[in-house]
Amino acid sequence: MNAMSAPKTILLIITGGIAAVKSLELLRRLRDGGHKVEVILTKAATEFVTPLSVGALNEAEPHTELFNLTAEAKMGHIRLAREADLVAVIPASADFLAKMAHGRADDLASTVLLATTAPVVVAPAMNHRMWAHPATTANVATLQGRGVFVIPPEHGAMACGETGAGRLPEVAALLPLLDIILAGLPAGRPLRGKKALVTSGATHEPLDPVRFLGNHSSGRQGHTLAGALMLAGAEVTLLEGHVSVPAPPGVTVIKTPTAAALYDAALAALPVDIAICAAAVADWQLDTPLPQKQKKNGAGSWTPSFSPTPDTLRALGTHKTSRPRLVIGFAAETENALENARQKRQDKGCDWLLVNEISAKNPAFGAATNTVTLLDGKTEHFFENKSKAHIAAACIQKIIA
Ligand code: CTP
Repeated sequence: MNAMSAPKTILLIITGGIAAVKSLELLRRLRDGGHKVEVILTKAATEFVTPLSVGALNEAEPHTELFNLTAEAKMGHIRLAREADLVAVIPASADFLAKMAHGRADDLASTVLLATTAPVVVAPAMNHRMWAHPATTANVATLQGRGVFVIPPEHGAMACGETGAGRLPEVAALLPLLDIILAGLPAGRPLRGKKALVTSGATHEPLDPVRFLGNHSSGRQGHTLAGALMLAGAEVTLLEGHVSVPAPPGVTVIKTPTAAALYDAALAALPVDIAICAAAVADWQLDTPLPQKQKKNGAGSWTPSFSPTPDTLRALGTHKTSRPRLVIGFAAETENALENARQKRQDKGCDWLLVNEISAKNPAFGAATNTVTLLDGKTEHFFENKSKAHIAAACIQKIIA
């Protein structure tokens, strides 16, 4: 199993566009995650990927025809609609989005979409002018209004030689978002109109031009939370330290390599409604970073002097004029986790604190799963060995509640 949650049945609808080739990698990664995947190829998709390549990767023939006598003898389209835990249209072409928005049912893919009650997610990919066209904007808004999750395309160079927003995000960025939806993220963009700030990843405090003080954070939990907030409709600013995972599409990313940069960027982003501080900020910085490399020069030891880094969570939690309505912190503890966390929640002025006890059994940093306790001042909720997507979806549910 990789980063995915408990195995599910995913109906992957591949529509026609050059990005369809990325869906083969997506299919492989979903299967690696232990999921059962059924694939529908639209007619246009078969111009870009063949039923044979999909069939070989999935060890099962993809579905292509609405009027297939053998499949329909078993009510094929209804079965596909009913058995899916998630229907993912990736990539979704402009034409297919229009078809969905109008509720057409003239091929297998569109018919299944009308018949399913499972959550539906689309990841549009197309030329940037097609993406920016008011007709596409209106179709996307219609789908969002019906509770369809939309993964926005990324900005970048396109197959047509132009540059703009319309690229399908990389598979590594898509997978956590599918995971979050599978983990029960509420549909209908309940956080629409809300501004959220998320800090994520490790900060590196320079010692000299070639060395730094850092930690093992991958940014996975913070980035997953940022993705969940985006899917839930919030306008998200992600302050990204050093990470080993891609940023979710559809969020504003500001690189914050040091604790001081993180602090400045967080205060500059105010006012926001929700702040989640998931970054693993280095606690200490060198009083005077060395302008040149620290040489051994035969010295037996080096005793630099450090002072604490500025504390972003505390600054947000105790802000006099622009305190976010909801401030959420994280804590990593290696002993007396709950006791320390209760104190830390109060000291830093945060509403909720999620504490993980770092141990050999729960390395937390970089792992796909985590064991955490969420303290909100009244209750303490224990998540044992849950996927980071599960924890993110649960946080969003609690935020909405
Ligand atoms: N945090 C922050 N800025 C810092 C240090 C920590 O914003 N300079 C935030 C982290 O993002 C996290 C929370 O504070 O949400 C707790 O971090 P943790 O390292 O557990 O606590 P510390 O404040 O470092 O306290 P201690 O090292 O004494 O446990």
